[in-house]
Amino acid sequence: MNSIWLESVEKIKSSGKIEEDTSADVCIIGAGMCGITTAYYLTKKGYNVVVVEKNEIANGVTGHTTAKITSQHGLIYHYLSEKYGINVARKYFEANEEGIKNIKEIIKENGISCDFEETNSYIYTTNESEIEKINEEMEYLKHVNKDAEKTNETDLPFKVVSAIKFKNQGQFNPLKYVQGLVNYILEHKGRIYTNTLCTDVKKEDDGYLVVVNENKIYAKYVVLCSQYPFLKVPGFYFAKMYQESSYVLGIKTYEKLPKDMYINLDAPVYSFRRAKYNGEDILLIGGAGHKTGQKVTYEETYGMLEKKAKELYPDARVVAKWSTRDAVTLDKIAYIGDYSSLMPNMYVATGFNKWGMTTSNVAANIILDKITNNGSIYEEVFKATRFKPIENKDEMKNMLVDSTKSLLTNRIKESALDVDDIKENSGGVIERDGEKIGVYKNEDGKYFYVKPVCTHLGCILEWNDADKTWDCPCHGSRFDKYGKNLLGPAIEDLEKYEIKEDN
Ligand code: FES
Repeated sequence: MNSIWLESVEKIKSSGKIEEDTSADVCIIGAGMCGITTAYYLTKKGYNVVVVEKNEIANGVTGHTTAKITSQHGLIYHYLSEKYGINVARKYFEANEEGIKNIKEIIKENGISCDFEETNSYIYTTNESEIEKINEEMEYLKHVNKDAEKTNETDLPFKVVSAIKFKNQGQFNPLKYVQGLVNYILEHKGRIYTNTLCTDVKKEDDGYLVVVNENKIYAKYVVLCSQYPFLKVPGFYFAKMYQESSYVLGIKTYEKLPKDMYINLDAPVYSFRRAKYNGEDILLIGGAGHKTGQKVTYEETYGMLEKKAKELYPDARVVAKWSTRDAVTLDKIAYIGDYSSLMPNMYVATGFNKWGMTTSNVAANIILDKITNNGSIYEEVFKATRFKPIENKDEMKNMLVDSTKSLLTNRIKESALDVDDIKENSGGVIERDGEKIGVYKNEDGKYFYVKPVCTHLGCILEWNDADKTWDCPCHGSRFDKYGKNLLGPAIEDLEKYEIKEDN
């Protein structure tokens, strides 16, 4: 099942696939919310902009988000204040509030019909023992967001013991919004090339040469807005982030739906918001998050959300379900700004930590300011070349353990599966003549074989039985059941094997 956003619009019109070498002032890699917003602002300022996208516009994370527009990012203000001081926390809040205001302005200015609604956002707990966390966040919010309110009144169908409310936030249909921006870009001579894979960026004397499909683009500025940068060096972003998978259900019920946006702070985390689907209100329930590449079953993901939906609304009927991936940084702050001191005029925006709608606008404005004014007041908070992430030793250790384990698995782990163990419409790794082989068996009993080694840096892939994909535990690349690359940082498909089956 596709996300309701992708189902709600026809394929967004683009400039098609690139067919010849070209040049531009700015080349943006990635046509999701961030790349398109950056292209929109630069086009408005009169820059000649080219966007390249390996799939279709907004088909990645933007097409699979819950699309909450908010500056309430969990209990971030307590964390930021303690870790980096109150000024950093305040700047982070102001940047995101400005992002919300900018999105509202873009919608108004361009008359974009994208089901935007102004709503409140809540973080809540149903657990008495977690109240202290709410109180601590409120203490810091006194210096950051004076409008934040502590309450225990919500319109959720269960009792909460404490919550924090942020007013004047928003929600929308991200595909319809992006479509509005794309219309503006194309009408003002911007170009957005789809099915155009970028494989390299080379520094030239006066700018960059961007290699795409069989062609080249020459540009003074390059902006990397793909969800997870595919370039390995310099930058080393793959070593400073990981990806998290989470799942979303759209349910219909005859009960009254909550009108605001919610997320809880206790595990397991559930996220709620209303949305329009085929002209009717439905409820989106998100959650069941796990590190991408961990082995999961349907029951542990969609199944868990279905159980929650039935518990809250016994008449719940699932009308949509989808999953998404989010790049997570080790210090909870996105990487936005200069890509590397070795690559002047090249910028990056990544690691949005699940808050990509607002952060995309923040990123677009920081990059716009850097290109047009040579600096931004928010640049320091989000600086992509900072060393702070390394200070998060626990996360760093987890990342290294997962990567090392996966790389070593190639040599030491005994294969647990035989090809006959694989059920229909499922997959797994088997071993033949000492070699690991990834097997997917379709509904008709036909087998498809791949080399289960990630084309990014060689980690062994895990079969994800909830989504029927091959997922990488190291940095979260994903491949479909036949080996086609779906998500970076890897950009190449898996090697396929032809194996004759013995009868
Ligand atoms: Fe880096 Fe797979 S994503 S090795």
